[in-house]
Amino acid sequence: MAQKLDIILLGATGFTGQYVLRELHKHSRSKGRNLTWGVAGRNEISLRKALQDLAEETQDPRLTDQPIIIADLQDPKSVKEMASKARLVINCCGPYRFLGETVVKACVEEGTHHVDVSGEPYYMESMQLKYDEEARRKNIYVVSACGVDSIPADLGVAFLEKNFNGGTLNSVETYFQMSEGGGPFSRQPESNYGTWESAVHEVGHVGMLRPLRTELFKNKLPKLKPTLGRRFLPFKSPIDGQWAAFFPGPDRSVVYRSQYYFYEEEHKRPIQIQTYLLINSFITMILLGIIGAMFTTFARVRLGRYLLLKYPRFFSMGMFANTKQKPSKEKIEKTKFCLSLVGKGWPEKSTNPDDKFKGPPQKGVIVQVKGSNPVYGITSKCMVLASIMILTEPFKMPQRGGVYPPGAAFAKTSLMEELNENGVTFEVLKEFNIAG
Ligand SMILES: NC(=O)c1ccc[n+]([C@@H]2O[C@H](COP(=O)([O-])OP(=O)(O)OC[C@H]3O[C@@H](n4cnc5c(N)ncnc54)[C@H](OP(=O)(O)O)[C@@H]3O)[C@@H](O)[C@H]2O)c1
Repeated sequence: MAQKLDIILLGATGFTGQYVLRELHKHSRSKGRNLTWGVAGRNEISLRKALQDLAEETQDPRLTDQPIIIADLQDPKSVKEMASKARLVINCCGPYRFLGETVVKACVEEGTHHVDVSGEPYYMESMQLKYDEEARRKNIYVVSACGVDSIPADLGVAFLEKNFNGGTLNSVETYFQMSEGGGPFSRQPESNYGTWESAVHEVGHVGMLRPLRTELFKNKLPKLKPTLGRRFLPFKSPIDGQWAAFFPGPDRSVVYRSQYYFYEEEHKRPIQIQTYLLINSFITMILLGIIGAMFTTFARVRLGRYLLLKYPRFFSMGMFANTKQKPSKEKIEKTKFCLSLVGKGWPEKSTNPDDKFKGPPQKGVIVQVKGSNPVYGITSKCMVLASIMILTEPFKMPQRGGVYPPGAAFAKTSLMEELNENGVTFEVLKEFNIAG
């Protein structure tokens, strides 16, 4: 039998896949690594072109000799065969709700690790429910949310906890901010249709999450005091007094799953989380509020979803590309990202979930995760470096394989350091005391 490749990148022809391809090429050989890899997809000509384009861009003609594997997601046998040829599959084909399970199933059956950048809680949680046991038995890691959703938030919580300097972190509020992107009414879209399509279906089927969660989270997390509530109305945030509004992205559900894991496996006090979006002006906040309300209302009904999927530019006020359009690469490269995590707790150490603290939190720490080009640049770095962690530092990951969120999987690996070296920085902004 031919030797397995270390990594196969499935979906290398997609918008995200091409960014991931560039990072894979770079990091498979950096730091003395010599990881072997190939690309997979349903169309050989497009795969060859993706390799050819990168060969020209990087002036590395060897790229055109990389192995190409044909796998069509409508043909599970071809996907299984692909999975049998690698130690790890990176999957860039979404929406994961429709395309993801075939790949997870094939990987679990073939004993191959699996990494993806889904930001779709239903897919991630149902994969955990269905495949965790078999992945544990086979000792392979299946890790979703390895992009800007939700490595900055999930590892950001781990970083904040490390920098809480021996205290007890009770709660974290995250503030997601993008700048220089353009926002509503921008003349060029800044995100690809694939992300819009995934979001429409996720929001459209949000009702399916409740029964799934009842099964997945059989034990309840302890009730922590003070309980961190969600702020439904816009408010002035602690980050430069900017406006903040509730952010219904996947970070909250991903961090919750990591905290649930640490509670179940390590009997560690969980950290509560709420997620917000920072908005630089009141007018933008109103516009985003209108987009959000329209999006949620339309996504819930079939005709509404049809319209959202047909007219993404119109319904996103210019932020997302239509099906036949691609976002401007120049513009997305310029977009800056900052996730601020505001942690509150006590200076005394307690890891026991049953410990009760007298009085309200007294100590606060703010950390920030920053970088450029969040949706595709940060995502592709996170995804490739996370995959490399699975292959090179499995001894720092959960003892047994399984289906994990990235915080649970990578908090103890060198992923944060690797990201720091590659332009995704984790920094402490400040410590503060909370007046009683
Ligand atoms: N959460 C995050 O941080 C984050 C960030 C970026 C992207 N994403 C997610 O990544 C996913 C991809 O987004 P995108 O914008 O890159 O989409 P895209 O450009 O449409 O790419 C989709 C990829 O899937 C492949 N594909 C589709 N159907 C297939 C099939 N039957 N068999 C084999 N391959 C198939 C396509 O291959 P062809 O070229 O042959 O059509 C293409 O390579 C989305 O779910 C998006 O939400 C998440």
